[in-house]
Amino acid sequence: MIIAVDGTLASGKGTIARALAEAFGLAHLDTGALYRAAAVALIDAGGDPADANAAASAARSLDPASIDETRIRTAEAGAAASVIAAHGAVRQALFDLQRSFAARPGGAVLDGRDIGTVICPDADVKIFVDADPALRAERRWRELVAGGADVTLDAIAAQLAERDTRDAAREDAPMRAAQDSILLDTSRLSIDAAVSAAIAIVHDKTKAVPVR
Ligand code: DC
Repeated sequence: MIIAVDGTLASGKGTIARALAEAFGLAHLDTGALYRAAAVALIDAGGDPADANAAASAARSLDPASIDETRIRTAEAGAAASVIAAHGAVRQALFDLQRSFAARPGGAVLDGRDIGTVICPDADVKIFVDADPALRAERRWRELVAGGADVTLDAIAAQLAERDTRDAAREDAPMRAAQDSILLDTSRLSIDAAVSAAIAIVHDKTKAVPVR
């Protein structure tokens, strides 16, 4: 079984995807982490995220096993990831890795922006997660502040709007809900309620029963 979880920034898609993987005993790939790690490697090497060739070369050299979770989670890494993700050559460089992860025999949950539309158009279940932008900004701001970052809510709200627009407007594999996806709006849901709703979507669609 392949489950595609796409959605906007700070919508809860990562948490939901991880919980679905756990519940149904599937492997999980956070595809945003690949774009973030490639962006961090590029910046470390003195490269410019706007440079498609340099960004594609960083993406091709990426070793998913050596991703530094702390470094890729900053707002700067996220912003640079969104910039390099608009280059077709970068998306191409990360395509096979994502496809082969999805094709593993035990099945998988992948979360990102183009999983249901481009990476796994034949996924058994496609969920698009979204929430009110003001609530998403507040969630992301709380996370960053809890991690010690010195940022204002206004700055985070502006970054979020900029990234949503860039991710949805790019020509190559823009963020959008697949036609056959199910929308999960988490605006008024606790994390537990959102996870339960996602599990119910998978069960309704596939009759699979959670193992945990
Ligand atoms: O989900 P995230 O914030 O970790 O993703 C970081 C950036 O990577 C996001 O702004 C757009 C890009 N991305 C993408 O274009 N396609 C994906 N499948 C996943 C992420």
